[in-house]
Amino acid sequence: TAGDARKGVYSHFMRKEIDEQPTSLRQTIEGRIGDEAALDAFPPGALADVETVVFVACGTSYHAAMYGSVLLRRRGIFATAMRANEFAHDPTPLSDRTLVVAVTQSGETADTLASLRVANASPARTLAVTNVIGSSAAREADDAVFIRAGPEIGVAATKTFSSQVATLSLFANRLECDGAGIGTALGREEIGDRDTAVGLDASADRDTAANSDRSADSDAAEGTIAARRATDGGTVSDAMRALPDDVATVVADDGAARLAERYTDADSYFFIGRGVGYPVALEGALKFKEITYEHAEGFAAGELKHGPLALVTPSTVVVAVFTGRDDERTLHNVREAQSRGAPIVGVGPESATEVRDAVDQYLSFPDTDPELAGILANVHLQLLAYHAAEIRDRAIDKPRNLAKSVTVE
Ligand code: G6P
Repeated sequence: TAGDARKGVYSHFMRKEIDEQPTSLRQTIEGRIGDEAALDAFPPGALADVETVVFVACGTSYHAAMYGSVLLRRRGIFATAMRANEFAHDPTPLSDRTLVVAVTQSGETADTLASLRVANASPARTLAVTNVIGSSAAREADDAVFIRAGPEIGVAATKTFSSQVATLSLFANRLECDGAGIGTALGREEIGDRDTAVGLDASADRDTAANSDRSADSDAAEGTIAARRATDGGTVSDAMRALPDDVATVVADDGAARLAERYTDADSYFFIGRGVGYPVALEGALKFKEITYEHAEGFAAGELKHGPLALVTPSTVVVAVFTGRDDERTLHNVREAQSRGAPIVGVGPESATEVRDAVDQYLSFPDTDPELAGILANVHLQLLAYHAAEIRDRAIDKPRNLAKSVTVE
């Protein structure tokens, strides 16, 4: 068929779309990096009066939205992500200082459009972040920002997640530069050290710590994981420029394929992470269950001990996402599972030797800003799900019971 022809040498669109990510990300960020850069509808200053941001989305787009909400909160902007099917019938309070952001690849998901319509009928301003120009979401929202990932055929979203997150990171920078938010939240100070905290040598890190209220805690972390993370002194913009090449490195890695072969008979696959690693854990589990039909769940790493740990046995594979931020805490959660006999797969930065030493298997990616590390970790998880599904001979591009775009509520 014509569809098969477009797959070219690939046996599945999903694999093709995973491999396309360096290119699709280059398209996404083209001309958009830097404080001075406008983001489609938003020239500098256009978002100055936004106080709170509410993301609405479904499925994989919801995980990208959650990721975006973490990035905004770290910039001192009140932000939350809601499942569109919940928001549509139980919305948050909305004022003319609220920006409701519908994140939707297709721009046609009925639940998300229903949420958009609720927001449009309120004083709130609305924005669609979508892949499809001329889609219902793009037309109905006050403004639209396009993720420019190119068409995605596989039902399991891959390259569009990466482009959504990259777009939301640029959008977070735009909001921050415009001075959006309701004041000096704690998150803002964190940002002060964010740009310097990445990739510095230990002495620069100490200076930063001395100038902020970061305390003994962070001093203690120096010389361990925190001091070794990330790029060579760059900002999140530098990390964004390097992202397509970093993704190419992950795509070329066969580590996930080997792991998929190794763990074929587990009862369950748990994915854990914190910060931006939490939505990535949820997305890793969603992808895994969608196409392998195995039981997979994602949890906030710190939540494991509040319930899910009761299910952890030597037959539970625990996949832990590390970003280079707060990794010591996640390592602590890993040990809780490890002591119940669970095999641990770590996914994290190349230089995180402490993590690498603690886990049973390690999938590494090039050191980067912790804010973008989740994108790289997620590409490994896409490949893990893909290979696990291939081994089980599943209908990877069209999993049972699922549709690319759900246009009914
Ligand atoms: C369906 C698809 C998912 C997708 C979700 C939201 O459930 O199977 O892969 O994430 O819809 O789609 P959207 O087009 O709104 O991003």
